[in-house]
Formats: sequence, C-alpha cells, structure tokens
Amino acid sequence: MIVLGIESSCDETAAALVNEKKEILAETVLSQEEHKIYGGVVPEIAARAHLEHIEDIIEHTFHKAKIQPKDIDAVAAAAGPGLIGGVVVGVMAAKALALALNKPFIAVNHLEGHALVSRLTNNVEYPYLLLLVSGGHCQILIVKNVNQYERLGTTIDDAAGEAFDKVAKMLKFGYPGGPMIEKMAEIGNENRFALPHPLRGSNDLNLSFSGLKTAVRKIIESYDADGNIEHVILSKQDTADICASFQKTISECLIEKVAKGIDVFQKKYPQGRHLVVAGGVAANSYLRQKLKNLAEENNLIFAAPPLKWCTDNGVMIAWAGLERFANGYTNDLDFKPRPRWPLDEDAPKAAGAGGVKA
Ligand code: KG4
Ligand code: ZN
Repeated sequence: MIVLGIESSCDETAAALVNEKKEILAETVLSQEEHKIYGGVVPEIAARAHLEHIEDIIEHTFHKAKIQPKDIDAVAAAAGPGLIGGVVVGVMAAKALALALNKPFIAVNHLEGHALVSRLTNNVEYPYLLLLVSGGHCQILIVKNVNQYERLGTTIDDAAGEAFDKVAKMLKFGYPGGPMIEKMAEIGNENRFALPHPLRGSNDLNLSFSGLKTAVRKIIESYDADGNIEHVILSKQDTADICASFQKTISECLIEKVAKGIDVFQKKYPQGRHLVVAGGVAANSYLRQKLKNLAEENNLIFAAPPLKWCTDNGVMIAWAGLERFANGYTNDLDFKPRPRWPLDEDAPKAAGAGGVKA
C-alpha cells in the first residue's frame, strides 16, 4: 500500500510517498524563505508560494521514488487546521490527482500528522501520551488510536512555538525563531533572569505563555532609558542569557503539566508505554532532554521524531493518510478544507476496518 501525502498548511510545501512497511519511498520539503524578514508567516505570500511550487514538488517526489502516480493507492492532503489559502492549494492538488487516478482522497488533520508520525519513526504503540507543541498549537493529549484523541490540556493563549517566535522577534531574530533561541541559549546562563510560570500549580493541565512573553519584553525594554524596545541593542551575552532563561522557563511550564498528564494517563491506561513529543517545538533538544528524563522517572519510553519530521513535512501527512486509509477512513471529493479543526472533536466512523500494526 502506497500513499502520497501533501502538506501546505503553513510555510512548508511538501510531499512524500510512504508504504505500510513504514518505508519512506521519497519526500520533498520546500521551506518558504519569503517570510524571514517579516518575523512571521504572511498568509497571502504563503498561499501564492504554495501554488507556484506544489506541482513541481509532487512531480519531483514521484521522480525520486521512481514510481508512477498510477502505482499509489490513495492521495492524502493536510486539509486543516492552518492558513486556509495554503490548505486549499494542497487539497485541490490532492483531489485533482485522486480524481484523475480514480483513487481515494483522504483529508488529514495536520495535527494528526504530527501526532502519528512517531509511529512510523519510533514504532510507538497505542495508547500513548502526547505533547503536541507547534507554531499554532500546544496540547497534551492521549492518543488512543487513529482518529481517537482525548485532550487533557491546552494553551489558553499563545502556542509554545508562537511564544518562541514572538520572543525571537523582540530579539530581532528572523522567522522561525525557535532554532535561533535554542542556539543562543547554549551559551547563555539560564538562571540569570527569573521569569514567571503562568498557571503553575493550577489544578488543570492548561498552559499559558502570554505573561511569560510580556516578562521577557519588559526585561528587554529595561535596556533602553525610554523603555523603547526598538532602540535596544543587547550584547551577545545578554541576548544569550535571555534566550536561556526563556527556554528554561517555558520548558518548566510544559514539564509540570506533562507530569500531571502522565498521572492521568497511567491511571487510565496502565498498559501505555510511551511519552511522545511532536510538532515544530519538539525539535528543541533542551526540551527533549527534560521530557526524556521525565519519561524515565515514570517508567515510560520517550519518543520524539527525528528533527526533520518534527517541523512540517509530507511524511507525517502520508503516514496519517495511510493509517486512516488502512482503517477505512476516506473522504468525498467535496470535503471542505477546515481552517479550524480540533483533533478531539466527535470522531467520524470508519467505513471499513483494517489496520496497521505499530
Ligand atoms: O510544526 P511546525 O513546523 O508548524 C506548525 O504547524 O506550526 O512548527 C513551527 C514552530 C515555529 O514556531 C518554530 O519557531 C518552532 O516550531 N521551532 C522550534 C524549534 N524549531 C522549530 N522551537 C523551539 N526550538 C526549536 N529548535
Ligand atoms: Zn505543524
């Protein structure tokens, strides 16, 4: 069984071909450079860039895999949540191919792509506890099966990646900001600035990063006599210390709530073996190490996809599409792309049954 996956929901135009043996036959990822100078993704620019490149990316992926479009079994595309202009481009391309080839079309929730990719890369088995941390989302979920999610907690304001990007913008780094903050943090003193931990100690598993971001802004502003962030010029060491203190604090916030999530998960699913992190922020090695320690303290196996499959890619969409297909989930060609699409909403029933073993 071979599935083509197409991703275009943010600023990566990507495609991949995977099979049920967890082999990646080929993949192509184009990260749009156009947004760097803006400090964030500009939706209109993103949509145009997807449109310009999508055909070539798909063609190139078939070429690299040395297979013909007729050899595949289904076409999957990220159909939301995300920037609607880009999502429409990927979904239209997938529907056109599905129609021309007379193969099923599968609408994949982008978050399900992030959520399931570690089953391909790390052989993770259901059920597992998942920390999903990307540019647009920050959630703690129990992944019970394909299409079956229980959300334990979520951010009430910014996503984790968004907080990284906003702090990066204050420090005049380009977009995306996470990788640069991580790099600078390596030479910084993480204990130099005491930053707040919003929602620390709350009974729920929710998170909040808005106050943390504001606290960082105030520190940076304090370096200018008039408190104007635009006029601040920081030394390399001050910049590094801010990055390290921010990275430490946001990681502590996440770890506290994931620890609570582990308690809930282990009570409900004593047989569950994995703690998984996914999404762009999962590329952060500092956070990965803290999560690994936490997993080991709780007798869980820690799993994180290799770095290139943490950020947006076609493999995760192809794999989620394949799992959906194997479990009988396909979609009609009139499926409407969804800018908002919670993972844990009432799951549709599968038409047939099958399954892919972990
Ligand atoms: O999953 P993703 O590629 O796109 C979304 O679906 O949002 O995540 C992108 C986010 C950006 O906010 C980026 O700054 C963050 O992931 N990110 C990181 C790192 N690499 C990417 N954050 C922290 N540390 C990193 N190394
Ligand atoms: Zn993503």
